[in-house]
Amino acid sequence: MESILKKDQNYIWHPLTQHKTQPEVLPITRAKGVWLYDDKENAYIDAISSWYTSIYGHCHPKIIHAAQEQMQNCDQVIFSGFTHAPAANLAEALIGILPENQQKVFFSDNGSTATEIGIKIALQYHHNKGQERHVILAFEEGFHGDTFGAMSVSGLSVYNGPFENHFIKVVRIAVPNENNHKQVLSNLEKLIDIHDIAGFIYEPLVQGAAGMKMYEAKYLIPILELCKAHEIITIADEVMTGFGKTGTAFASQQISILPDVICLSKALTAGFMPMAITSCTQRIFDAFYSDDTSKGLFHCHTYTANPIACAVAKASVDLLVSKSMQQHRKRIEQSHKEFIAALCKHPKAQNVRSKGIILAFELQIDCKERYGNTRKKIYNAFMAQGIYLRPLGNTIYIVPPFITTNKELQKIYTSIENILELV
Ligand SMILES: Cc1ncc(COP(=O)(O)O)c(C=O)c1O
Repeated sequence: MESILKKDQNYIWHPLTQHKTQPEVLPITRAKGVWLYDDKENAYIDAISSWYTSIYGHCHPKIIHAAQEQMQNCDQVIFSGFTHAPAANLAEALIGILPENQQKVFFSDNGSTATEIGIKIALQYHHNKGQERHVILAFEEGFHGDTFGAMSVSGLSVYNGPFENHFIKVVRIAVPNENNHKQVLSNLEKLIDIHDIAGFIYEPLVQGAAGMKMYEAKYLIPILELCKAHEIITIADEVMTGFGKTGTAFASQQISILPDVICLSKALTAGFMPMAITSCTQRIFDAFYSDDTSKGLFHCHTYTANPIACAVAKASVDLLVSKSMQQHRKRIEQSHKEFIAALCKHPKAQNVRSKGIILAFELQIDCKERYGNTRKKIYNAFMAQGIYLRPLGNTIYIVPPFITTNKELQKIYTSIENILELV
Protein backbone atom coordinates (compact mmCIF):
# COMPACT_ATOMS: atom_id res chain seq x y z
CA MET A 1 0.00 0.00 0.00
CA GLU A 2 1.31 3.43 -0.91
CA SER A 3 1.47 5.97 1.93
CA ILE A 4 -0.97 8.91 1.92
CA LEU A 5 1.87 11.22 0.94
CA LYS A 6 3.00 8.99 -1.92
CA LYS A 7 -0.54 8.71 -3.28
CA ASP A 8 -0.99 12.46 -2.88
CA GLN A 9 2.24 13.16 -4.72
CA ASN A 10 1.35 10.75 -7.50
CA TYR A 11 -2.22 11.74 -8.14
CA ILE A 12 -3.29 15.06 -6.60
CA TRP A 13 -3.15 18.66 -7.88
CA HIS A 14 -3.70 20.96 -4.87
CA PRO A 15 -5.41 24.38 -4.88
CA LEU A 16 -3.40 27.61 -4.57
CA THR A 17 -0.19 25.57 -4.86
CA GLN A 18 2.91 25.80 -7.02
CA HIS A 19 3.86 22.14 -6.79
CA LYS A 20 7.44 22.67 -7.95
CA THR A 21 8.47 25.14 -5.26
CA GLN A 22 6.08 24.15 -2.47
CA PRO A 23 5.49 20.41 -2.72
CA GLU A 24 5.00 19.72 1.02
CA VAL A 25 1.56 18.82 2.34
CA LEU A 26 0.68 17.60 5.80
CA PRO A 27 -1.64 14.60 6.20
CA ILE A 28 -4.45 15.41 8.64
CA THR A 29 -5.96 12.26 10.06
CA ARG A 30 -8.68 13.62 12.34
CA ALA A 31 -10.29 16.79 13.66
CA LYS A 32 -12.23 17.45 16.84
CA GLY A 33 -13.38 20.74 18.35
CA VAL A 34 -10.71 23.34 17.60
CA TRP A 35 -8.02 20.71 17.06
CA LEU A 36 -6.55 19.23 13.90
CA TYR A 37 -4.33 16.12 14.26
CA ASP A 38 -1.67 15.07 11.80
CA ASP A 39 -0.53 11.51 11.01
CA LYS A 40 2.00 11.66 13.87
CA GLU A 41 -0.69 12.81 16.31
CA ASN A 42 0.72 16.34 16.49
CA ALA A 43 -2.17 18.65 17.39
CA TYR A 44 -2.80 22.12 15.92
CA ILE A 45 -5.42 24.67 16.90
CA ASP A 46 -7.44 25.54 13.80
CA ALA A 47 -7.20 29.31 14.35
CA ILE A 48 -8.98 30.16 11.08
CA SER A 49 -11.81 27.61 11.43
CA SER A 50 -10.62 25.86 8.25
CA TRP A 51 -11.19 28.84 5.97
CA TYR A 52 -14.00 30.21 8.12
CA THR A 53 -16.21 27.13 7.91
CA SER A 54 -15.93 25.08 11.13
CA ILE A 55 -17.02 27.86 13.46
CA TYR A 56 -18.77 25.56 15.94
CA GLY A 57 -15.67 23.33 16.10
CA HIS A 58 -14.90 20.27 14.02
CA CYS A 59 -17.19 17.22 14.07
CA HIS A 60 -19.80 18.82 16.29
CA PRO A 61 -22.02 15.98 17.62
CA LYS A 62 -25.30 17.81 16.91
CA ILE A 63 -24.35 18.27 13.27
CA ILE A 64 -23.12 14.68 12.97
CA HIS A 65 -26.47 13.55 14.33
CA ALA A 66 -28.41 15.67 11.80
CA ALA A 67 -26.30 14.32 8.92
CA GLN A 68 -26.65 10.70 10.05
CA GLU A 69 -30.42 10.97 10.41
CA GLN A 70 -30.84 12.56 7.01
CA MET A 71 -28.52 10.03 5.32
CA GLN A 72 -30.84 7.22 6.32
CA ASN A 73 -33.87 9.02 5.04
CA CYS A 74 -33.11 10.65 1.69
CA ASP A 75 -29.59 11.18 0.36
CA GLN A 76 -30.12 13.14 -2.85
CA VAL A 77 -32.96 14.14 -5.10
CA ILE A 78 -33.23 16.49 -8.08
CA PHE A 79 -34.40 19.92 -6.87
CA SER A 80 -36.11 20.98 -10.06
CA GLY A 81 -39.70 19.75 -9.85
CA PHE A 82 -39.17 18.24 -6.36
CA THR A 83 -38.79 19.72 -2.91
CA HIS A 84 -38.11 18.23 0.53
CA ALA A 85 -38.35 18.99 4.25
CA PRO A 86 -34.61 19.65 4.85
CA ALA A 87 -34.60 22.42 2.18
CA ALA A 88 -37.91 23.91 3.32
CA ASN A 89 -36.90 23.88 7.00
CA LEU A 90 -33.52 25.41 6.25
CA ALA A 91 -35.00 28.11 4.02
CA GLU A 92 -37.47 29.07 6.76
CA ALA A 93 -34.70 29.15 9.39
CA LEU A 94 -32.43 31.27 7.19
CA ILE A 95 -35.15 33.77 6.32
CA GLY A 96 -35.73 34.02 10.07
CA ILE A 97 -32.16 35.17 10.76
CA LEU A 98 -31.20 36.99 7.54
CA PRO A 99 -31.69 40.79 7.27
CA GLU A 100 -35.41 41.48 7.33
CA ASN A 101 -35.78 42.38 3.62
CA GLN A 102 -34.60 38.93 2.42
CA GLN A 103 -37.46 36.75 1.22
CA LYS A 104 -36.25 33.92 -1.08
CA VAL A 105 -33.22 31.60 -1.10
CA PHE A 106 -31.60 30.04 -4.17
CA PHE A 107 -29.36 27.02 -3.49
CA SER A 108 -25.98 26.19 -5.00
CA ASP A 109 -22.79 24.56 -3.77
CA ASN A 110 -19.86 26.93 -3.10
CA GLY A 111 -19.05 30.57 -2.46
CA SER A 112 -18.03 31.29 -6.05
CA THR A 113 -21.32 30.00 -7.43
CA ALA A 114 -23.21 31.99 -4.79
CA THR A 115 -21.63 35.20 -6.09
CA GLU A 116 -21.85 34.07 -9.73
CA ILE A 117 -25.60 33.66 -9.22
CA GLY A 118 -25.79 37.08 -7.52
CA ILE A 119 -24.14 38.64 -10.58
CA LYS A 120 -26.44 36.76 -12.95
CA ILE A 121 -29.48 37.88 -10.94
CA ALA A 122 -28.37 41.53 -11.24
CA LEU A 123 -27.80 41.26 -15.00
CA GLN A 124 -31.02 39.35 -15.68
CA TYR A 125 -33.09 41.61 -13.42
CA HIS A 126 -32.49 44.49 -15.83
CA HIS A 127 -32.79 42.26 -18.90
CA ASN A 128 -36.18 41.03 -17.69
CA LYS A 129 -37.29 44.64 -17.26
CA GLY A 130 -36.28 45.35 -20.87
CA GLN A 131 -33.44 47.70 -19.91
CA GLU A 132 -30.11 46.05 -20.74
CA ARG A 133 -27.27 46.81 -18.35
CA HIS A 134 -23.88 45.16 -18.88
CA VAL A 135 -21.52 46.36 -16.17
CA ILE A 136 -20.93 45.24 -12.59
CA LEU A 137 -19.48 47.57 -9.98
CA ALA A 138 -17.02 46.17 -7.43
CA PHE A 139 -14.43 47.28 -4.89
CA GLU A 140 -10.72 47.31 -5.60
CA GLU A 141 -9.10 44.33 -3.84
CA GLY A 142 -12.40 42.54 -3.32
CA PHE A 143 -12.49 38.76 -3.59
CA HIS A 144 -15.59 36.91 -4.70
CA GLY A 145 -14.38 33.54 -5.95
CA ASP A 146 -12.72 31.67 -8.77
CA THR A 147 -15.36 31.13 -11.46
CA PHE A 148 -15.33 33.59 -14.36
CA GLY A 149 -17.98 36.04 -13.17
CA ALA A 150 -16.65 35.87 -9.62
CA MET A 151 -13.06 36.34 -10.82
CA SER A 152 -14.10 39.27 -13.01
CA VAL A 153 -15.47 41.19 -10.05
CA SER A 154 -12.53 40.23 -7.80
CA GLY A 155 -9.81 42.84 -7.77
CA LEU A 156 -6.98 40.63 -6.55
CA SER A 157 -4.68 40.17 -9.54
CA VAL A 158 -2.66 37.44 -7.83
CA TYR A 159 -5.48 35.06 -8.70
CA ASN A 160 -6.77 36.64 -11.91
CA GLY A 161 -3.73 37.33 -14.09
CA PRO A 162 -4.03 34.72 -16.88
CA PHE A 163 -7.76 35.18 -17.33
CA GLU A 164 -8.20 38.93 -17.46
CA ASN A 165 -8.92 39.04 -21.18
CA HIS A 166 -11.96 36.85 -20.71
CA PHE A 167 -13.80 38.75 -18.01
CA ILE A 168 -17.28 40.29 -17.88
CA LYS A 169 -17.38 44.10 -17.79
CA VAL A 170 -16.49 45.51 -14.38
CA VAL A 171 -15.80 49.01 -13.05
CA ARG A 172 -14.22 49.56 -9.66
CA ILE A 173 -14.19 52.01 -6.82
CA ALA A 174 -11.77 52.19 -3.90
CA VAL A 175 -12.89 50.93 -0.52
CA PRO A 176 -14.09 54.10 1.27
CA ASN A 177 -12.32 55.38 4.36
CA GLU A 178 -12.03 58.57 6.39
CA ASN A 179 -9.73 60.18 3.84
CA ASN A 180 -11.14 59.14 0.48
CA HIS A 181 -14.89 58.63 0.99
CA LYS A 182 -15.97 61.87 -0.71
CA GLN A 183 -13.72 61.17 -3.68
CA VAL A 184 -15.03 57.58 -3.92
CA LEU A 185 -18.58 58.86 -4.04
CA SER A 186 -17.82 61.42 -6.70
CA ASN A 187 -15.96 58.76 -8.74
CA LEU A 188 -19.00 56.54 -8.44
CA GLU A 189 -21.30 59.31 -9.67
CA LYS A 190 -19.12 59.66 -12.77
CA LEU A 191 -19.09 55.91 -13.35
CA ILE A 192 -22.88 55.79 -13.09
CA ASP A 193 -23.11 58.55 -15.72
CA ILE A 194 -20.87 56.71 -18.16
CA HIS A 195 -21.74 53.03 -17.63
CA ASP A 196 -24.93 50.98 -17.55
CA ILE A 197 -24.26 49.44 -14.13
CA ALA A 198 -26.47 46.44 -13.30
CA GLY A 199 -25.20 45.55 -9.84
CA PHE A 200 -22.71 46.35 -7.09
CA ILE A 201 -20.99 43.45 -5.32
CA TYR A 202 -19.16 44.07 -2.03
CA GLU A 203 -17.87 42.25 1.02
CA PRO A 204 -19.62 44.11 3.86
CA LEU A 205 -17.27 45.60 6.49
CA VAL A 206 -14.43 43.04 6.10
CA GLN A 207 -12.58 42.12 2.90
CA GLY A 208 -11.33 38.64 3.74
CA ALA A 209 -8.89 37.62 1.01
CA ALA A 210 -7.53 41.18 0.79
CA GLY A 211 -6.08 40.47 4.23
CA MET A 212 -9.04 41.03 6.56
CA LYS A 213 -9.19 44.70 5.58
CA MET A 214 -11.91 46.41 7.57
CA TYR A 215 -13.94 49.49 6.72
CA GLU A 216 -16.77 51.38 8.34
CA ALA A 217 -20.49 51.11 7.60
CA LYS A 218 -20.89 54.89 7.62
CA TYR A 219 -18.73 55.18 4.48
CA LEU A 220 -20.50 52.33 2.70
CA ILE A 221 -24.02 53.68 3.31
CA PRO A 222 -23.84 56.63 0.84
CA ILE A 223 -22.51 54.24 -1.82
CA LEU A 224 -25.43 51.86 -1.26
CA GLU A 225 -27.86 54.81 -1.28
CA LEU A 226 -26.50 55.99 -4.60
CA CYS A 227 -26.82 52.47 -6.00
CA LYS A 228 -30.42 52.21 -4.80
CA ALA A 229 -31.26 55.60 -6.33
CA HIS A 230 -30.04 54.30 -9.71
CA GLU A 231 -31.63 50.84 -9.39
CA ILE A 232 -28.20 49.19 -9.19
CA ILE A 233 -28.78 45.80 -7.53
CA THR A 234 -26.70 45.61 -4.35
CA ILE A 235 -25.11 42.21 -3.71
CA ALA A 236 -23.57 41.63 -0.27
CA ASP A 237 -21.01 38.84 -0.50
CA GLU A 238 -21.24 37.41 3.03
CA VAL A 239 -19.51 34.15 2.11
CA MET A 240 -16.77 34.99 4.61
CA THR A 241 -18.53 37.45 6.95
CA GLY A 242 -21.74 35.45 7.39
CA PHE A 243 -22.90 33.46 10.43
CA GLY A 244 -21.79 35.51 13.39
CA LYS A 245 -18.15 36.19 12.60
CA THR A 246 -18.46 39.99 12.60
CA GLY A 247 -20.52 40.25 15.80
CA THR A 248 -24.01 40.01 14.26
CA ALA A 249 -25.45 37.04 12.38
CA PHE A 250 -24.63 38.87 9.14
CA ALA A 251 -22.41 41.92 8.65
CA SER A 252 -25.19 43.55 6.60
CA GLN A 253 -27.17 43.86 9.84
CA GLN A 254 -24.67 46.52 10.97
CA ILE A 255 -25.37 48.64 7.89
CA SER A 256 -28.62 50.63 7.74
CA ILE A 257 -29.07 50.14 4.00
CA LEU A 258 -29.84 46.47 3.40
CA PRO A 259 -28.68 44.63 0.28
CA ASP A 260 -30.99 43.31 -2.45
CA VAL A 261 -29.04 40.06 -2.68
CA ILE A 262 -26.87 38.16 -0.17
CA CYS A 263 -24.33 35.41 -0.97
CA LEU A 264 -23.61 32.75 1.66
CA SER A 265 -21.49 29.62 1.94
CA LYS A 266 -18.56 28.47 4.15
CA ALA A 267 -19.99 28.42 7.73
CA LEU A 268 -23.47 27.77 6.31
CA THR A 269 -22.72 24.06 6.69
CA ALA A 270 -20.14 24.40 9.49
CA GLY A 271 -17.42 22.72 7.42
CA PHE A 272 -19.38 19.50 6.88
CA MET A 273 -20.67 19.79 3.31
CA PRO A 274 -20.25 22.07 0.31
CA MET A 275 -23.32 24.27 -0.05
CA ALA A 276 -24.19 27.89 -0.84
CA ILE A 277 -27.19 30.19 -0.84
CA THR A 278 -27.97 33.34 -2.78
CA SER A 279 -30.87 35.09 -1.07
CA CYS A 280 -32.87 38.02 -2.36
CA THR A 281 -35.79 40.34 -1.71
CA GLN A 282 -39.33 39.82 -2.99
CA ARG A 283 -38.81 42.66 -5.48
CA ILE A 284 -35.91 40.81 -7.11
CA PHE A 285 -37.84 37.52 -7.16
CA ASP A 286 -40.84 39.27 -8.72
CA ALA A 287 -38.73 40.48 -11.64
CA PHE A 288 -38.24 36.82 -12.61
CA TYR A 289 -41.88 35.80 -11.98
CA SER A 290 -43.66 35.78 -15.30
CA ASP A 291 -45.79 33.87 -17.81
CA ASP A 292 -42.70 34.04 -20.00
CA THR A 293 -40.53 30.96 -19.21
CA SER A 294 -37.35 32.65 -20.36
CA LYS A 295 -37.66 35.23 -17.58
CA GLY A 296 -36.97 32.52 -14.95
CA LEU A 297 -33.50 32.06 -13.49
CA PHE A 298 -32.11 29.16 -15.51
CA HIS A 299 -29.17 28.30 -13.33
CA CYS A 300 -28.71 24.94 -11.65
CA HIS A 301 -26.07 22.62 -10.19
CA THR A 302 -26.64 18.89 -9.84
CA TYR A 303 -26.30 18.90 -6.05
CA THR A 304 -28.55 21.95 -5.58
CA ALA A 305 -30.21 21.74 -2.12
CA ASN A 306 -28.74 18.31 -1.39
CA PRO A 307 -30.89 17.03 1.52
CA ILE A 308 -27.92 16.02 3.70
CA ALA A 309 -26.28 19.43 3.22
CA CYS A 310 -29.60 21.12 4.04
CA ALA A 311 -30.02 19.07 7.23
CA VAL A 312 -26.45 19.90 8.23
CA ALA A 313 -27.01 23.62 7.52
CA LYS A 314 -30.24 23.64 9.56
CA ALA A 315 -28.41 22.07 12.52
CA SER A 316 -25.69 24.73 12.07
CA VAL A 317 -28.24 27.57 12.15
CA ASP A 318 -29.72 26.06 15.33
CA LEU A 319 -26.25 26.17 16.87
CA LEU A 320 -25.65 29.74 15.70
CA VAL A 321 -28.76 31.05 17.44
CA SER A 322 -28.26 28.94 20.59
CA LYS A 323 -27.62 30.86 23.79
CA SER A 324 -24.36 29.06 24.48
CA MET A 325 -22.87 29.88 21.05
CA GLN A 326 -23.83 33.54 21.45
CA GLN A 327 -22.12 33.60 24.85
CA HIS A 328 -19.01 32.00 23.33
CA ARG A 329 -18.94 34.62 20.57
CA LYS A 330 -19.19 37.47 23.07
CA ARG A 331 -16.49 35.90 25.22
CA ILE A 332 -14.08 35.68 22.26
CA GLU A 333 -14.85 39.25 21.18
CA GLN A 334 -14.06 40.47 24.70
CA SER A 335 -10.91 38.38 24.90
CA HIS A 336 -9.73 39.77 21.51
CA LYS A 337 -10.27 43.31 22.81
CA GLU A 338 -8.02 42.68 25.80
CA PHE A 339 -5.33 41.07 23.62
CA ILE A 340 -5.53 43.91 21.12
CA ALA A 341 -4.85 46.45 23.86
CA ALA A 342 -1.50 44.72 24.45
CA LEU A 343 -0.81 44.02 20.77
CA CYS A 344 -1.25 47.68 19.82
CA LYS A 345 1.73 48.56 21.99
CA HIS A 346 4.07 46.18 20.18
CA PRO A 347 6.33 48.02 17.72
CA LYS A 348 6.26 45.14 15.23
CA ALA A 349 2.44 44.93 15.06
CA GLN A 350 0.79 47.45 12.76
CA ASN A 351 -2.79 48.29 11.98
CA VAL A 352 -4.18 46.03 14.69
CA ARG A 353 -7.91 45.53 14.14
CA SER A 354 -10.83 43.31 15.01
CA LYS A 355 -14.46 42.83 14.10
CA GLY A 356 -16.42 40.22 16.03
CA ILE A 357 -14.22 37.13 16.29
CA ILE A 358 -11.93 38.26 13.44
CA LEU A 359 -8.60 39.70 14.59
CA ALA A 360 -5.89 40.88 12.19
CA PHE A 361 -2.72 42.96 12.00
CA GLU A 362 0.34 43.43 9.80
CA LEU A 363 3.79 42.29 10.87
CA GLN A 364 6.25 45.08 10.35
CA ILE A 365 8.53 43.15 8.01
CA ASP A 366 9.47 43.36 4.35
CA CYS A 367 7.21 40.76 2.75
CA LYS A 368 5.67 41.69 -0.58
CA GLU A 369 4.86 38.20 -1.83
CA ARG A 370 1.55 36.80 -0.70
CA TYR A 371 2.73 33.18 -0.91
CA GLY A 372 6.52 33.69 -0.83
CA ASN A 373 9.27 32.33 1.42
CA THR A 374 8.92 34.84 4.26
CA ARG A 375 5.26 34.00 4.56
CA LYS A 376 6.17 30.30 4.54
CA LYS A 377 8.61 30.83 7.42
CA ILE A 378 5.95 32.61 9.46
CA TYR A 379 3.47 29.84 8.70
CA ASN A 380 5.97 27.17 9.80
CA ALA A 381 6.79 29.07 12.97
CA PHE A 382 3.10 29.05 13.93
CA MET A 383 2.75 25.36 13.08
CA ALA A 384 5.79 24.56 15.23
CA GLN A 385 3.83 26.08 18.13
CA GLY A 386 0.75 23.98 17.36
CA ILE A 387 -1.22 26.80 15.75
CA TYR A 388 -2.67 26.56 12.27
CA LEU A 389 -3.30 29.86 10.54
CA ARG A 390 -2.67 31.18 7.03
CA PRO A 391 -0.73 34.44 6.88
CA LEU A 392 -1.39 36.49 3.73
CA GLY A 393 1.99 38.04 3.04
CA ASN A 394 2.75 39.90 6.27
CA THR A 395 -0.90 39.96 7.40
CA ILE A 396 -1.64 37.71 10.35
CA TYR A 397 -5.28 37.02 11.08
CA ILE A 398 -7.33 34.63 13.15
CA VAL A 399 -10.97 33.55 12.96
CA PRO A 400 -11.13 30.97 15.76
CA PRO A 401 -14.10 28.62 16.22
CA PHE A 402 -16.69 30.03 18.65
CA ILE A 403 -16.02 27.14 21.03
CA THR A 404 -12.32 28.00 21.46
CA THR A 405 -11.73 28.01 25.23
CA ASN A 406 -9.94 30.86 27.01
CA LYS A 407 -6.94 28.58 27.46
CA GLU A 408 -6.84 27.77 23.75
CA LEU A 409 -7.27 31.46 22.88
CA GLN A 410 -4.36 32.23 25.17
CA LYS A 411 -2.25 29.66 23.32
CA ILE A 412 -3.03 31.40 20.02
CA TYR A 413 -2.22 34.84 21.47
CA THR A 414 1.04 33.57 22.98
CA SER A 415 2.07 32.12 19.62
CA ILE A 416 1.45 35.54 18.05
CA GLU A 417 3.55 37.23 20.74
CA ASN A 418 6.33 34.72 20.12
CA ILE A 419 6.26 35.40 16.38
CA LEU A 420 6.46 39.13 17.06
CA GLU A 421 9.65 38.52 19.07
CA LEU A 422 11.01 36.26 16.33
CA VAL A 423 10.66 38.80 13.51
C1 LIG B 1 -15.94 36.79 0.29
C2 LIG B 1 -15.77 35.52 -0.49
N1 LIG B 1 -16.56 35.29 -1.55
C3 LIG B 1 -16.47 34.16 -2.26
C4 LIG B 1 -15.53 33.20 -1.97
C5 LIG B 1 -15.43 31.96 -2.79
O1 LIG B 1 -15.90 30.86 -2.08
P1 LIG B 1 -15.51 29.38 -2.53
O2 LIG B 1 -14.05 29.22 -2.23
O3 LIG B 1 -16.37 28.49 -1.71
O4 LIG B 1 -15.78 29.27 -3.99
C6 LIG B 1 -14.67 33.39 -0.87
C7 LIG B 1 -13.66 32.40 -0.52
O5 LIG B 1 -12.78 32.60 0.27
C8 LIG B 1 -14.80 34.59 -0.11
O6 LIG B 1 -14.01 34.84 0.95
